[in-house]
Amino acid sequence: MSSASSLVDLRAVKPVVLPSLLMCDFGRLEDEVRRLEAAGVRALHLDVMDGHFVPNLSYGLVLVETFRRLTKLPLDVHLMIDNPADYVDRYREAGADGMTIHIEAAADPRPVLDRIRAQGASAGLALNPPTPLAAIEPFLDHCDLVLVMSVMPGFGGQKFDPVALDKLRTLHAQVGTTKVLEIDGGIHTETIGPAAQAGCGWFVVGSGIFKAKDYGQALGDLQRRAIHSPVGTS
Ligand code: DX5
Ligand code: ZN
Repeated sequence: MSSASSLVDLRAVKPVVLPSLLMCDFGRLEDEVRRLEAAGVRALHLDVMDGHFVPNLSYGLVLVETFRRLTKLPLDVHLMIDNPADYVDRYREAGADGMTIHIEAAADPRPVLDRIRAQGASAGLALNPPTPLAAIEPFLDHCDLVLVMSVMPGFGGQKFDPVALDKLRTLHAQVGTTKVLEIDGGIHTETIGPAAQAGCGWFVVGSGIFKAKDYGQALGDLQRRAIHSPVGTS
């Protein structure tokens, strides 16, 4: 089953709220996926961690394959791993529709981003809060999506770092709507508006959805706040 085209179609859509499955109940995976589908989510965000690039180990190929079997929703795979070049083919085979690698893990990310695109997937480049925008600017032509981290990656439930907002404003001025701008970390009802105003279109949300009783209500609330926070206002 492939749903690459639907992730490509989604590039033109904003706002998109992507649940981070890191925060789901892994004992009831299928049930969680069905609840998210019923809530109306457009794609799933899967956080792959290797215990080296980040100080936490989450899941890898087996769970990406499992999500692929469970749903037709596009899979936006966030690779928080060293040596991403060694893995992108396998994550694509496992069912990833888009893969985002970290600039901090690839001195020259061009071959990896080009490889992701050659496989028909969306290529994303992420940067951590302390990393300046200048680090990714030379590579923007090679990616479809930029992921601006608003926490140090590794764990859900951390506090939003507003340094991401300045980066989004600058990026939005540079790339307009030609690339997806995505934010990840500490996004909830109070922080999604400022991120949308700064030019962000895709919002990764862990605790803000999975701690809610009603995923549909949480998703709707987040989407409304993003819609009511147009770019450039504040
Ligand atoms: C952080 C992950 C995030 C995280 C988001 O390392 O990349 O996707 O799970 O969780 P919240 O929304 O709780 O910050
Ligand atoms: Zn993530």
